[in-house]
Amino acid sequence: MSPRALVFDAYGTLYDVHVVAQRCDEFWPGRGTELSKLWRAKQLEYTWQRSLMRRYVPFSQVTREALAYACEALSLPLDEAKAGTLMQEYLELAVYPDVPHAQARFKVKQAILSNGSPDMLDPLVRHSGLKFDAVLSVDEVKIFKPAPEIYQLAVDRLGVAKKDIGFVSSNCWDALGARSFGFT
Ligand code: LAC
Repeated sequence: MSPRALVFDAYGTLYDVHVVAQRCDEFWPGRGTELSKLWRAKQLEYTWQRSLMRRYVPFSQVTREALAYACEALSLPLDEAKAGTLMQEYLELAVYPDVPHAQARFKVKQAILSNGSPDMLDPLVRHSGLKFDAVLSVDEVKIFKPAPEIYQLAVDRLGVAKKDIGFVSSNCWDALGARSFGFT
């Protein structure tokens, strides 16, 4: 396949969400990995539930609520200061080391299509220094992936037919959603 555009998922694909485990470990020694995993799992679950219930709120709120859930479930006391620090970490996530090289190999339009709301996504992309032709957030449509209208957003904004878009995600459910929509 020679894609005319590449569309990337953000969290877990370009940016490593589990770097937050280090900071979690500083707050709750030995519990960082467990907390980070539960936080991420709940964050995703909340997006699916909210989409089905048509109760969209920005991903920043979903992420904050998932953190509260995960800390409570693991009996880790969370105050506003700790929550603020951990939410800030999400704006400065590390880029996976192979991303810049991989991006440079493809001389086609490249975009992000993410559940992230602009208040999270824009600072993250700026901080990372990665460059894209478009950074698209589900916030425009107010439903989360894998709703097909989200993938359609990339088609509309890039002006490229869906069969010519290569979609890149490390999140299996997202890759399946994209494939079901008609991306490669
Ligand atoms: C995203 C999440 C799902 O960036 O990883 O959309």
